[in-house]
Amino acid sequence: MEKILIIDFGGQYNQLIARRVRECGVYCEVKPWTTPLTQLKAFNPIGMIFTGGPQSVYLEGSPQVDPAIFTWGVPILGICYGCQLMAHLLGGQVTPAQDDSAREYGKTLTHYDTGCKLFRDLPSEGVSWMSHGDYMARVPKGFSLTARSGTCPSVAIADERRGFYGVQFHPEVDHTQGGVDMIRNFLFEVCRAKGDWTMGDYKKTAIANLRQKIGPGKVLLALSGGVDSSVAAALLAEAVGPQLTCVFVDHGLMRLNEGNEVEEAFSKWNINFVRVDAETRFLLKLAGVDEPERKRKIIGEEFIRVFEEEAKKVGAVDFLAQGTIYPDVIESGAGEAAVIKSHHNVGGLPDYVDFQEIIEPLRMLFKDEVRQLGRELGLPEYLVSRQPFPGPGLAIRIIGDITKEKADTLRQADFIFREEMSKVGEDKNLNQYFAVLTNTRSVGVMGDGRTYDYTLALRAVTTSDFMTADWARIPYNLLDRVSTRIVNEVKGINRIVYDITSKPPATIEWE
Ligand code: XMP
Repeated sequence: MEKILIIDFGGQYNQLIARRVRECGVYCEVKPWTTPLTQLKAFNPIGMIFTGGPQSVYLEGSPQVDPAIFTWGVPILGICYGCQLMAHLLGGQVTPAQDDSAREYGKTLTHYDTGCKLFRDLPSEGVSWMSHGDYMARVPKGFSLTARSGTCPSVAIADERRGFYGVQFHPEVDHTQGGVDMIRNFLFEVCRAKGDWTMGDYKKTAIANLRQKIGPGKVLLALSGGVDSSVAAALLAEAVGPQLTCVFVDHGLMRLNEGNEVEEAFSKWNINFVRVDAETRFLLKLAGVDEPERKRKIIGEEFIRVFEEEAKKVGAVDFLAQGTIYPDVIESGAGEAAVIKSHHNVGGLPDYVDFQEIIEPLRMLFKDEVRQLGRELGLPEYLVSRQPFPGPGLAIRIIGDITKEKADTLRQADFIFREEMSKVGEDKNLNQYFAVLTNTRSVGVMGDGRTYDYTLALRAVTTSDFMTADWARIPYNLLDRVSTRIVNEVKGINRIVYDITSKPPATIEWE
């Protein structure tokens, strides 16, 4: 398999670089700059990308690479810090920009030398996204200048003979016109990639690897019914079906019919599926608690207790499997990620549950790739394309204390909202949408009588990474239908509001 190695110097867009490469059909992995050279070499890449980073290459303690890397004969694309590092290590000079005008941030009109392979078939002028305070005062021997801006003569450099390219801007972000074409040029023109990495291949390799690793051992998976753990379950089912036990803890704070849907989907697989109906014990622990963080902690802890009990029942489990995905790994700083994430993902597993190893079969995939793998494995579309649902479930969408009655009220309202949205296909435009039962009651009039009932908030957002989000401009007539149905059909709600705050300053969930 042809592979691209991305060396991570701490830049904020590193995940995006990896996504872009994969979108071109080329497999890649991001490895921290601290990875020993022998490991990098053993990865056997056809090309390398050095990412951006917040530091300055000339400062002591800044991230570096062993200059021996430049003698491998493998092409390199350096981006921002990665470009400056290459220039610095190969004998060029990188200095702080002398005045503000030489520092470049944001959209910058850039002129390209289209004779350079990196810019082949691109317009000779376009906007690029810059974010650098240092610049290359002198380029290394063998390099030429291949792009410039109004203030900076060394926006891009290349030594085409050795296959070394560097850009001061970020080709991976949408703001850089033709940026993806530049990455494609690097992959296909410079590294001679074929671009034949497919999810079908990944599936076969992953299954073979899992079989080899697990052998005759037993595997336990905490299944939530969310996309990641569902796809992990399906993959493991195909690899080692009868040796797998999936534990689905229904804490009674799932959406309407969700528990049954998860059970129905997974009882068809050749696995041991255990559904634990734990509504009563969760509601008991949560009774009277209205502080959001306390709610989360109680749910996390109780989940562990249930999971422990189930692990003991299964007995002699060798492996614990989790649906950790690549963004989790990168965000936690690859390398040290495994232990921290494995605890974090299932809410901090107890140490004394005796697992030989933790298996994370999706740890190299992005969310959309996980969805694609799910489809390859034959998971139903509604499971694969579902929106995220938080681990604590409706507990953090019921403001104030939680009761079964409130949970049932919210479940019904949320179902109507989702049903109306999907009827007209509006759900396809949104990344997350749900209802929140506020703790506010107000006066209303229904029929001839006075009501004093709860206010329900509707929340719908668009987002690409869930770190920031915009409130969705849902058509008024759709909001009207949802509102009318909810107040008519759901007892206890007499007023509907629509949340028009973005993140930041709000968050997506209310608690
Ligand atoms: P916020 O509310 O922080 O949410 O803007 C961002 C995304 O994370 C989800 N979320 C959670 N997911 N456990 C989870 O598994 C949690 O405790 C949790 N809290 C928030 C939220 O639904 C949104 O997609």
